[in-house]
Amino acid sequence: MPTFDQVKQAAWAGRADAYAETFGRLCGRMVPALLDAAEVRAGDELLDAGTGPGAVAAAAITRGARVTAVDPDEGMRRLARLAAPRADVREGALPDLDLADASFDVVGANFVLNLVGDPRAATRELVRVLRPGGRLAATVWPRPMSELHRLWEDVADAAGAERPASAAPLEPAMDFVRSPDGFAGLLEDAGLTDVHAERVGFVHRVDPESWWSGPARGVATIGAVLLAQTPEVQGRMREQFDRLSRPYLVDGMLHLPTAAVLAHGRRSQ
Ligand SMILES: C[S@@+](CC[C@H](N)C(=O)[O-])C[C@H]1O[C@@H](n2cnc3c(N)ncnc32)[C@H](O)[C@@H]1O
Repeated sequence: MPTFDQVKQAAWAGRADAYAETFGRLCGRMVPALLDAAEVRAGDELLDAGTGPGAVAAAAITRGARVTAVDPDEGMRRLARLAAPRADVREGALPDLDLADASFDVVGANFVLNLVGDPRAATRELVRVLRPGGRLAATVWPRPMSELHRLWEDVADAAGAERPASAAPLEPAMDFVRSPDGFAGLLEDAGLTDVHAERVGFVHRVDPESWWSGPARGVATIGAVLLAQTPEVQGRMREQFDRLSRPYLVDGMLHLPTAAVLAHGRRSQ
C-alpha cells in the first residue's frame, strides 16, 4: 500500500502548470509575508522547501538571498527554474533532505507542512538544516476551514461526491492542530525558539472559470475528489460550484475570504 507521502506526491505529477495557474496564485499571496516573517536579508542562504513553481525562491532572490529550492515533483522543479533561474533547484522531499546540517540562514516552507505525512519529522528536518540563530517561516491552511476552502467541501457534499482514499486526511495521531497555537507548538517541539504564529486573513479574487479549472485539472484535494467521480457526479459538482459560488461574485470575479496560518521562529545559538 502506498504511503501518505507517496499518494500526495503522485497527485502533483503532471499538474505543475495547472497548479501554477490556479491554486499557486492563491498560495503566492503569502510569499511577501513569509519572507518578512523570516527577516530575509541580502546575502542570506535560503532554502525554499517544497518550492512548487518557485514563488518563494524568486521573491527571495529579488531580496538578495542565495537560494536553494527543493521539490519532489519534476514539473514543479521545471517551473521553479524558469521563475528563479539563479536558484539551485534540486530534487528533494521532506522529511529526508540531502542537505548538510546547519547550512542555511533561512528556511521557508509555503503551504508544504500541511500536506506531508509526518509533519513533526518534516519540521525537525527543516530545523536540522538551519544554522544556529537561523530563521524559519512557514504557512499552512487553518482548521476550521476558511470560506474559500469550505466552498469546495460544500460543492462535493451538495453533489453527493464520495471522497476517494487518496483524499483522506492525515491520521489524527500524526497530525497537528491547524491553528496558530497548534502550528507554533509544532515549531517549538522541533527545537525553535522565539516562535510566533498568527492567522492572516485575506480575500482571494479570481475568475470563476479559472478557479474551477484547478480541480478540473486535478489540482489539490478537491481535484482528487473531482477526478474520482463519475461524469454524472462531476456534472453535479460543476452545477453546485456555479450555485454555491454565486454569492461571492462581484463584477464577474469571485471574492473568496480565506486565511493562512503563518508561523516563524529561530534556531537557538
Ligand atoms: C501547495 S504546493 C506549494 C508550492 C509552493 N511552496 C508555493 O507556495 O506555491 C506544495 C508543494 O509541495 C511539494 N511537496 C509535496 N510533498 C512534499 C514533500 N514531502 N517534501 C517537499 N515538498 C513536497 C509539491 O510537489 C508541491 O510543489
